[in-house]
Parts: sequence; structure tokens; C-alpha cells
Amino acid sequence: MTPMNPTPLMEVRNLTKRFGGLVAVNDVSFAVQEGEILSVIGPNGAGKSTLFKLASSFLTPTSGRVFFRGEDVTSQSPHIAARKGIVRTFQETTIFRNMTALDNVVVAHHLRSRASLPGFFFGTKTAGEDEKRFRESASEILNYLGLGDVRDMIASTLPHGHLRALGIAIGMAADPKLLLLDEPFAGMNSEETTQAIRMVRGIRDRGVTIILVEHDMSAVMTISDRIVVLNFGKKIAEGTPAGIQNDELVIEAYLGREDENEEDVNEENVNEENGDEETQESNASSRKAGIENVP
Ligand SMILES: Nc1ncnc2c1ncn2[C@@H]1O[C@H](COP(=O)(O)OP(=O)(O)OP(=O)(O)O)[C@@H](O)[C@H]1O
Ligand SMILES: [Mg+2]
Repeated sequence: MTPMNPTPLMEVRNLTKRFGGLVAVNDVSFAVQEGEILSVIGPNGAGKSTLFKLASSFLTPTSGRVFFRGEDVTSQSPHIAARKGIVRTFQETTIFRNMTALDNVVVAHHLRSRASLPGFFFGTKTAGEDEKRFRESASEILNYLGLGDVRDMIASTLPHGHLRALGIAIGMAADPKLLLLDEPFAGMNSEETTQAIRMVRGIRDRGVTIILVEHDMSAVMTISDRIVVLNFGKKIAEGTPAGIQNDELVIEAYLGREDENEEDVNEENVNEENGDEETQESNASSRKAGIENVP
């Protein structure tokens, strides 16, 4: 763990976001120290993704402030946030699926540089120099993310785990100081998750601070230095993985009251969102499994 630093890398203070009558994020405060891996967890609709959008300036809060290295960055544009080093990972859909893994990361470098994309494609001199530099940097990123072997594969042919990792590689091309990962382990099998955990730790070891949102409790408990728990937009707990697993409010938020049986828990979750009943049931049981089975 990182020693406590007087100025956190990012601090959100009393953040609130309303969508009409709905309070998606309700007076949430927390800080992340440089070098930490902080997870934000909570049931579907708890406000996690909204919180990420507020932190990365894709949304403006109704009230509250966001500080980055002590500077108030609340109303800046996402573009400025990214330039400061606050980067939200791209989803799979922004991957150019008919390009190689390497070219995807090279293009991501171009997208944040001054050289124009037409230059990249038509080969002006400056663009040629940039291209060489970016290609080296992209190769390095793919190597340390464990994607070196698949760099020349067309993205659409990559297995799910690699494709998600490529999304993170594209984020790394922006040279982040704070990387916000929304559900980085979603849809991964356990082997892919183990690899992805190693990858996220590797990124942290290179000096990048990480906040992640994730439903895979086992992964969250393994990877996190600290965890913030949201429920209905409010922060209900914050602490170490061990502390969170024993927190009464957290257990209640995920499992319903202790004296409720499994069926009641599932019924409660069925109403949460528009997902089908089976998915909701399996979500509820996997959450339960996650919370209880963590080493
Ligand atoms: N742009 C929007 N307009 C209106 N309501 C929104 C908007 N974005 C999110 N919400 C609502 O705000 C609440 C929080 O949504 P959010 O996506 O932040 O939850 P989440 O914790 O990320 O959920 P999940 O685990 O399902 O991804 C939900 O009730 C959602 O429907
Ligand atoms: Mg979400």
C-alpha cells in the first residue's frame, strides 16, 4: 500500500448528480491516493458509471466538486481532463475491429497527437516520424499488457479477454495518470480474469493510479487496496476488502436482510433493472458467492 499522501491524486467532494427527479449520485465524497487501486462497487443502478462520468468530466455534477492533484477540475471539458491524465477506458465498440491490435494502439496515439490522421494514412514527413515513435510506444504497451503475441492479429479475431485488454491498451496510449476502468473483467472466464488482474496491477506498478467499477466480487476483493460502496447513489461504506466484506450495510445492500432467504433476494433483484429474470437471478447468486467466497 502507498503511504498516505497529504494531497490525494483525485478527490470528489459532496458530488451529486440529478437526472430529473432521480438522484443518481447523492452527496458522495472520497479520495484516491497516488498508486492506489480503488474499486467502486454497488448493485445495478447504484450510480457507479455516473460517478465515473463525473470524475472524467463527461458529465457536470448538479453540485459538489472534483479535485485533481489539489486543483478544482469540476467544470473542465473531457478533452482537458484527458490531457491532464484522467482517462476513462474506451469500450470495445471504439476498437477498429478490422485493424490489427498494434494498429489500434498506434491510431490511439495519433488521435491524441497534433499530427493529423490523414497524415498517418498518406505519409507526410512529420507523420512518418510520429508513426515510428507511436509504433514503438504501442508495441511497448502491448508487450507489458501481455498482448505482444497477438499484436499483428486483426482485432475482430481476438478472444474476449484480449479484446478487453486491447481496450485498456488504447486507454494507455493517452498516457494516463488516473485510469478509470468500468467493469474491466465483465464477461471474462476465470483464466482471463486472473490475467486481467495481473495486467491491472502491472499498470499500477508503472505509476498509474486506478479506479475501477466491477461486479466480479472475487476479482474486486483480490485487486483492491480500498473499496467504496454505493447504493441508490449514496456511499454506504468505504474501507479495505476485509472491512467491506464484514460491513453490515454492504451485506444488506447485496443480499437483502440476513433473515431473508435466497428467493427473497432474487425477487428483490428482479425489479432492479430491465434485465431478464434469469440474468438477475444469476447476478444475485454470483454476488452472494463473491462476497462470501473471497479468500
Ligand atoms: N443520462 C441519464 N439520464 C437519466 N438517467 C440516467 C442517466 N444515466 C444514468 N441514469 C440513471 O441513474 C442511475 C444510476 O445509473 P448508473 O449507470 O450510474 O448505475 P451503475 O451503478 O453504473 O449501474 P450498473 O451496475 O448497472 O452499470 C440509474 O437509475 C440510471 O437509470
Ligand atoms: Mg454502470
